[in-house]
Amino acid sequence: MHTIKRSMLVVTLLAGWLGSQEREALGIEQKIDALLSRMTFAEKIGQMTQFSGTDARKEEQIRAGAIGSLLNVIGAAENNRLQKIAVEESRLKIPLIIGNDVIHGYRTIFPIPLAWSASWDTALIRQAARIAAKEARAVGIHWTFAPMVDIARDPRWGRIAEGAGEDPFLGAAIARSLVCGFQGSSLADPQALLACAKHYVAYGGAEGGRDYNTVDISERTLREIYLPPFEAAVRAGAGSLMSAFNEIGGIPASANPLTLRQILKGEWAFTGFVVSDWNSIGELLNHGLAANRIEAGRQSLIAGVDMDMEGLCFTPELEEFVKSGALPEKYVDDAVRRILRMKYRLGLFENPYTDPELSKNVLMQADHLAAARELARRSIVLLKNEKNILPLNLENLKTIAVIGPLADDNNAPLGTWRCQGRPEDVVTVLSGLRQRLAGKVKLLSAKGCDIQKAGQAHFQSAIEKVRQSDVVIMVLGEGAEMSGEAACRSELGLPGEQLNLLRRVAETGKPIVLVLMNGRPLVLSAVEPLATAIVETWHLGVQHGNAVADVLCGDYNPSGKLTVSFPRSVGQIPVYYNHKNTGRPANPGSKYNSKYLDVDNSPLYPFGYGNSYTRFEYSGLKIANTRLQTSEDLRVSVSVKNVGKQAGTEVVQLYVQDLVASVTRPVRELKGFQRVTLSAGQQETVTLRVPVTQLGCYDINLQYRVEPGEFRVYVGGDSRAELSATFNVVAAQ
Ligand code: GLC
Repeated sequence: MHTIKRSMLVVTLLAGWLGSQEREALGIEQKIDALLSRMTFAEKIGQMTQFSGTDARKEEQIRAGAIGSLLNVIGAAENNRLQKIAVEESRLKIPLIIGNDVIHGYRTIFPIPLAWSASWDTALIRQAARIAAKEARAVGIHWTFAPMVDIARDPRWGRIAEGAGEDPFLGAAIARSLVCGFQGSSLADPQALLACAKHYVAYGGAEGGRDYNTVDISERTLREIYLPPFEAAVRAGAGSLMSAFNEIGGIPASANPLTLRQILKGEWAFTGFVVSDWNSIGELLNHGLAANRIEAGRQSLIAGVDMDMEGLCFTPELEEFVKSGALPEKYVDDAVRRILRMKYRLGLFENPYTDPELSKNVLMQADHLAAARELARRSIVLLKNEKNILPLNLENLKTIAVIGPLADDNNAPLGTWRCQGRPEDVVTVLSGLRQRLAGKVKLLSAKGCDIQKAGQAHFQSAIEKVRQSDVVIMVLGEGAEMSGEAACRSELGLPGEQLNLLRRVAETGKPIVLVLMNGRPLVLSAVEPLATAIVETWHLGVQHGNAVADVLCGDYNPSGKLTVSFPRSVGQIPVYYNHKNTGRPANPGSKYNSKYLDVDNSPLYPFGYGNSYTRFEYSGLKIANTRLQTSEDLRVSVSVKNVGKQAGTEVVQLYVQDLVASVTRPVRELKGFQRVTLSAGQQETVTLRVPVTQLGCYDINLQYRVEPGEFRVYVGGDSRAELSATFNVVAAQ
């Protein structure tokens, strides 16, 4: 008794000394201790078990405390009904945590993540996540399986659509914004949505760009390319991560002690929980790592996965392993503790239910749509604009032909993972142009062909409309189902008959503005010469058509910049800007060096690239201090001038190259960026600061270190920036 009194006294004293947040955390840990001490082994496993949807059997399991989480249950009333079973009819009355894939919006659908990453507008992306969280919580969802932060260098991989492209620095910045947007300032906020950084880890490194395929990379590449966005998400407070399907060099991500236990829960001291991707624990059998599901569960639990999504691998039979010593119960208790910690922090014990009336005043509000339109506009990338055909000169145009299978398509703009988005909510390109040009310009339209199906039967009727027009807007690209999960392509040109249609329209000699709608970089080498202008509009969500009309008609000057390279040919893949120099860098003038016989090494459009209706000039690059210690910041300033006739926004990008190091280094790496808006003729000095600690690498011993020596900094409007200067990092005195 004396010991208990003393420990309670210590806790009381400690609570008085700690701040409110620490006191709250201490309180939660005490509640978890008390709850854990009352749980049977089966109830502990129940908290670690998640299923999709519901039925009578699952309701019985909830009542028995054998399920702790659900996903894919839609609607506040249904969520409340199931929550009631857990909270009022189970023995321990532990609330469910209900998850869903709220990736780029719940009902107000924003641009797909690859599109919004091209805005480089981390503040607006954060706002989009905040809106998504508000809408999702209003219908009883507590947890989203987002942000997807997988670095992707291979556009054949359909899930490139879901992430922020090829660069770890930008990927980390956007990961932070999304976690903060989803979770808000406190998880106790009724509009906070628990984030889940996924797919941990290196899922985008699949060989051949084929989903779920083998990933075989060095630990150095893992740490320098694929881990940074996850670390950023964890440091931003992400409450969960999702372990991936793929193996990494022979060890599946959902049973990988290095990534889960050593790095995530050790080096990063992650206090949230890890949910497996759908049956990825059960798939250890396919990987050949386990002979049965219970063994798969044991391996995955020891490695560091805490919750089993639809895998039937965390079951009460695991208790046999506890009794035999093959599974220390501390792993089970730690998993349950992590899950309960997030349920407490979300306030689910105090407020398990959602007001079913709430969603009526939250979904698709005018301010949500306005944010969706603004983010869509800023995600559009102007790839080509010959003869300044854009913005359209509406005074001189009488008739515009809007041609293509995606011109009036209201499904594609929702993109992949559209949650509860509805096609009827979408403004198509044609309807956006109709609204903008009503009474000003006559519009003619025709599909011309299907998105994927063969057949040129409707070419002629489209050509007839083209002949009656002054300019042609062609809307071509991919349907929503052609990117996302299990949607990989071995060829990356325009699908179906679309290129043939484009060629036939080009033969008429009419100027063509090509509007692309796609969920990945396409191979546009055959397309580029046929179009006078090319506008990359991705899948922009419910406001797609309005955003396109805003840009084509000059109401918004495009400012988007690619976050992933567009290859000249599939044969080049992988092609990315932060590549190594090799021992024989490409030299067109001689034979024996690293290049192809039939295509240039460079991408057709590089990382960071995007045009504007105006033009920006860079000059006067200055480094404040060219001899730096690791404790200092690199401070770079540059003058940027808008030398065109209209205001515009430029994304100023800063890249650094480590010229000599103990291991090979990329030819350049993004280390800073800033969006800057300048009126016509305005000139501004932009200053970017980079902590020298961010200029390190994993040295020959895989230790992260900033190595003294000479570095080169480049500043400009894309990853080919030429304005540069050198500086030195000196050993600490
Ligand atoms: C899917 C996806 C994952 C998603 C999960 C739940 O297979 O890989 O991204 O969050 O299952 O829908």
